[in-house]
Amino acid sequence: MTTASAPGKVYLFGEHAVVYGEPAVPCAISRRARVTVERRGDSRLHVHAEDLSLDGFTVEYSGEADATPDVDVSTDLVEAAMGYVDAAVSQAREAAGVPEAGFDVTVESAIPLGAGLGSSAAVVVAGIDAATRELGVELSTTEIADRAYRAEYDVQEGQASRADTFCSATGGAVRVEGEDCRAIDAPDLPFVIGFDGGAGNTGELVAGVRELREHYSFAANTVETVGDIVRQGERALAAGDLAELGTLMDFNHGLLSALGVSSRSLDRMVWAARDAGAHGAKLTGAGGGGCIVALDETEETETALRFTPGCEEGFRAELDAEGVRVE
Ligand code: MEV
Repeated sequence: MTTASAPGKVYLFGEHAVVYGEPAVPCAISRRARVTVERRGDSRLHVHAEDLSLDGFTVEYSGEADATPDVDVSTDLVEAAMGYVDAAVSQAREAAGVPEAGFDVTVESAIPLGAGLGSSAAVVVAGIDAATRELGVELSTTEIADRAYRAEYDVQEGQASRADTFCSATGGAVRVEGEDCRAIDAPDLPFVIGFDGGAGNTGELVAGVRELREHYSFAANTVETVGDIVRQGERALAAGDLAELGTLMDFNHGLLSALGVSSRSLDRMVWAARDAGAHGAKLTGAGGGGCIVALDETEETETALRFTPGCEEGFRAELDAEGVRVE
């Protein structure tokens, strides 16, 4: 039996634009997905998943990947999670050269599904590491990141960048621009996260931005401007200038909103954070619902989020320097 874990992430800057080759800066956070795998005597895949949301309900999903789960939770979300487990196992089988390997898989995650915190990337990264080790093969972090990207790419039908998976594999703050992915230095970042209890459909949201970009030249310019914000943000990060980072996060949120990927509850949480004195706030990830990230070293934003209509959870998250690891 082998267990591996990998962190979730927030986007300091650059989601969506990264799909079109602009740079992005995701940062790993101290919430992890743990995947335990045990080789079976046959070639079947049994998946059991727990705590797939912040409110800690248990999802019992023991059976084949196409079985209907008996759970009180959106089956779309659970099915999506199972798709990622399936894709991770396929990558592990291929990497280890054991195409018929079957596994019992247990997923435990403190990262809400589809909410912009990189839950799928963390599950895929941890799943590939655990399953390859179970088959006696140890992959480099770079290969885990690459295979995890390919798994997400397959599940999301080609609508994925390397950002989420690379960040989850390596941990810390990273810079991603096309195929070029690397770790960057970052000061302590006082992240506060607001979660509306919902989720967005990444594939649909990415497709929506693509349509806008193809239809309106100013939408294409908006995507490029997000790239400019990221480049400016990298300088602020290197200087440890939280006030400037906050201003740029606010700007980035405005542009994401213009690209149609914010929502009423995300906007409400962003404004609650700003009103509470945060340096800045923006949605994180694909949007449509899910999480915002704010920068605030005081308790004010966390408290304000708890009283914001539509916000289910407000919590602090540390930058996690550690990526995928064996447990
Ligand atoms: C989703 O977490 C981030 C997007 O930029 C898509 C991607 O980079 O794969 C929206």
